Amino acid sequence: MTKTITIANSKGGVGKTTTAVFLATLLSQYGTVLLKDADQQGSATEWLEDLEELPFDYEIANIRSLSKSKNYDYVIIDTPPQNSDIIVTAIDVADFVIIPASPSALEISRVLHTVEETKNKKDYKVLLVQVDTRTNSYHAVMQLLENEGVNQFKVSIPKREGIKKSYKTIPDKIVLKEYENVVNEMLGGL
Ligand SMILES: Nc1ncnc2c1ncn2[C@@H]1O[C@H](COP(=O)(O)OP(=O)(O)O)[C@@H](O)[C@H]1O
Ligand SMILES: [Mg+2]
Repeated sequence: MTKTITIANSKGGVGKTTTAVFLATLLSQYGTVLLKDADQQGSATEWLEDLEELPFDYEIANIRSLSKSKNYDYVIIDTPPQNSDIIVTAIDVADFVIIPASPSALEISRVLHTVEETKNKKDYKVLLVQVDTRTNSYHAVMQLLENEGVNQFKVSIPKREGIKKSYKTIPDKIVLKEYENVVNEMLGGL
């Protein structure tokens, strides 16, 4: 059975595409992986198109192709920013939804909105990314999400130059380290 994992958050620039590519790379150790790029901007496609020996497949997807099942162990869907039918569809077809969010108070209302769209339909977890654990806003956001009863990954992803620089590469073992914990936590529940 294919497990479909959708990466969604209506805000742009949080780390959705990065999360999608990193998870696709890691999950390829566990089975066959297809990354569906449902963002019309095509940033995942741009990341991947010139790479050789990619350990997974990718394709550009639209609403119609999102609902078509494919013969892969894992399908990962990267979604566009803004609220749109494509995000709703991507959530509808998912077995699990990851909502990446960076820990700023300004962003959290957007996150809570995506959580509301998701929580009655699907298993989900918020993943805090681009995190600096020394800041007050990180701890404030963690606390706020907890108070709101939002599901969160135990692990978070630090803000790292190495992650940023992995654009247009296949991320290597060192830079994948924290996302490995995300995969472990996720596979436990899938
Ligand atoms: N953990 C991180 N540390 C540092 N930079 C990051 C991290 N995650 C993402 N970025 C950078 O943030 C920017 C936006 O990330 P991206 O994955 O394209 O977000 P989205 O798909 O949500 O628009 C990119 O320049 C990316 O390299
Ligand atoms: Mg993106």
